[in-house]
Amino acid sequence: MRIAVVQMRPAFGDVEGNARRAVSMIESERADLYVLPELALSGYLFESKEEATSLAQEPSDPVFDEISEAGRSAGATVVVGFAEKAGEGLYNSAILLAPDGARFVYRKVQLFAGEKDIFEPGDEPPRVIEVEGVRLGMMICFDWIFPEVARTLALGGAQILCHSANLVLPYCQDAMVTRCIENRVFAATANRVGGEARAGQELTFTGMSEIVAPDGEVVVRADVESEGVLVAGVDPGRADDKQVTPRNDLFSDRRPEIYRL
Ligand code: ACM
Repeated sequence: MRIAVVQMRPAFGDVEGNARRAVSMIESERADLYVLPELALSGYLFESKEEATSLAQEPSDPVFDEISEAGRSAGATVVVGFAEKAGEGLYNSAILLAPDGARFVYRKVQLFAGEKDIFEPGDEPPRVIEVEGVRLGMMICFDWIFPEVARTLALGGAQILCHSANLVLPYCQDAMVTRCIENRVFAATANRVGGEARAGQELTFTGMSEIVAPDGEVVVRADVESEGVLVAGVDPGRADDKQVTPRNDLFSDRRPEIYRL
């Protein structure tokens, strides 16, 4: 199967324009799974909860029809980050748009810095979604620093971690190599590029979107500043082999009774 990470530079507040850009990037490269950045439709640095709410969507929003259609016309799944409106709640979420039209949402569990003033943290464990025989798990940006998230997905059978990101710290892209080795899974980290200067802050996003294999090989990695779609051909079945040595299985060698975490 072909996985694509879409490294893009969303324009703050331009939901329609960002969606059009996402569609044209999806249509520019053939893949079976496209992973797009966190908050790809709205941008990142909100002045207030009210502003974020005005740029948020429900999962049924028509903007996802256009993005879904771009994937479905190629028989592909799309994962994209967005600000999710849910009643009175506001979440930093990712939506998985399956080729059969089904939609699944993951709400970021670990919020980063100022996100805590805008969003509520997700209160559901990340779950594994099977699409056409491939088991996918979603995680969002800062979730990477909590190994429990990738582990929960891997123990649930995920073969590919779909990781939508707006990374500003310099560690994650290298750290995802370890997340993949310690769980023997693939990871597709789609980061954004460019910067935002709003709400009294200035952030530069670090690009370097990547696809990493279960043995830690960085199969593709983008640069720090360019928009683009990077594609890798992978065999998801490789993630089912948890054998590290003939006598070490990553999962059955675990001793949760000792860690007590
Ligand atoms: C982040 O979680 N957006 C750094």
